[in-house]
Amino acid sequence: MAKMWAGVTAGKTDQLADDFNSSIRFDSRMFREDITGSIAHAAMLAARGIITPQDCEALTDGLAGILADLESGALAIDPACEDIHMFVEQVLTERIGETGKKLHTARSRNDQVALDLRMYLRRECREISEGIREVASTITGVAEKHTATIMPGYTHLQRAQPVSFGHYLMAYAMMLLRDLDRLEDCRRRMNISPIGCCALAGTTYDTDRRMEAERLGFDGICLNSLDGVSDRDFAVEMMGALSILMMHLSRMSEELILWASWEFGFIRLSDAYTTGSSIMPQKRNADMAELIRGKTGRVYGDLLGLLTTLKGLPLAYNKDMQEDKEGVFDACDTVKMCLGILAPMLATMEVRADRMLLAAQEGFINATDLADYLVKKGMPFRSAYKISGGLVALCMQQGTVLEKLPLETYRQYSELFEEDLYEAIDLKNCMEKRISEGGTSEASVRQQIAYVRSVLG
Ligand code: ARG
Repeated sequence: MAKMWAGVTAGKTDQLADDFNSSIRFDSRMFREDITGSIAHAAMLAARGIITPQDCEALTDGLAGILADLESGALAIDPACEDIHMFVEQVLTERIGETGKKLHTARSRNDQVALDLRMYLRRECREISEGIREVASTITGVAEKHTATIMPGYTHLQRAQPVSFGHYLMAYAMMLLRDLDRLEDCRRRMNISPIGCCALAGTTYDTDRRMEAERLGFDGICLNSLDGVSDRDFAVEMMGALSILMMHLSRMSEELILWASWEFGFIRLSDAYTTGSSIMPQKRNADMAELIRGKTGRVYGDLLGLLTTLKGLPLAYNKDMQEDKEGVFDACDTVKMCLGILAPMLATMEVRADRMLLAAQEGFINATDLADYLVKKGMPFRSAYKISGGLVALCMQQGTVLEKLPLETYRQYSELFEEDLYEAIDLKNCMEKRISEGGTSEASVRQQIAYVRSVLG
């Protein structure tokens, strides 16, 4: 096929080179952005008297027709075209004749592709944010039911102190709020229009870049034409935000996998999100959570891929930059799938409060509270810590727990112990007394829930 860019070259590239060079396989998903951008471009050209109103009308009608036909499936993407920009222009010219050839006045594919990608990704930011909101609000709903459900909190995966399951879950809700914030920040910085930067240096036509930007819903324009066509930091930034989000989802998935194991048994995932084994009939595998954890590596890879592609590129456009799209599309698709599966998986999981309580009771997680009891009676913390440790060691030796040791035994360790120590080490009390802001007490968790809901709106 004759190339539209056949200028000084014959435009007769080898078939292999054509296939290698082509991006239509993956950039055709930006057809809406490409056509919307072109309609705004035609309007701007007419407003500045660069084309006639009649030309503008023909271009606009032609483009709108292509959009409608692509949406309905009446028009199929031609895989032989180099990219979506060439495809649209080619069909337009086929349909409306010579006027179609005027569309590319005062622009280049370099600013066009940068425009399309920004428009595409800003919409993805919004869609992904919706998915995050859904997961955050599901988490908050489950947390609300479990503000009094005691479980062991861990450090080093060793039982540490009692927390409520609600408190535990709200930690993830807080992370997701920051993920939302990061994406919004990223969307805001991305929403600046590169169109009109042209190939690299701007144009001699008397264009109105701001008008075009405004029509397309941008908040401003790239103020340096070289920058406008060269940088893809907005895509890198977005993948950075998505990588951090996936890191959070992956940690949460890891906990779901652990909790769903026989050893923990804190939750039971619904059959709808559990798989079996082809050989071991007893298995309830948390494949969905494992896949979220696994796909996190893939999103990190997408980020690293683009960073590496960009790091040695001189200004302005280089064909290497065509490699920006597959990774960022893959990252967006992956994140949306993960969010989509996580929300119903969390909403339908069964929480085994009895198992959580058992783990909490067996773990000496009130040892800090025992030390604090002595501190409140006047003993320095380090000494109290030692006595509490000694008592835990004794319990371990005798196969018992702190709650069951008789008062006489306590008093052999310190005269400060009195009957009220049992109240101080009662797990429920240990949790409820953690009233510091952000702590695990019921009131605090309710405050956290209210805060998250107010942000989610
Ligand atoms: N398909 C190209 C890309 O995705 C469009 C820009 C091509 N520009 C050029 N001068 N070859 O990056």
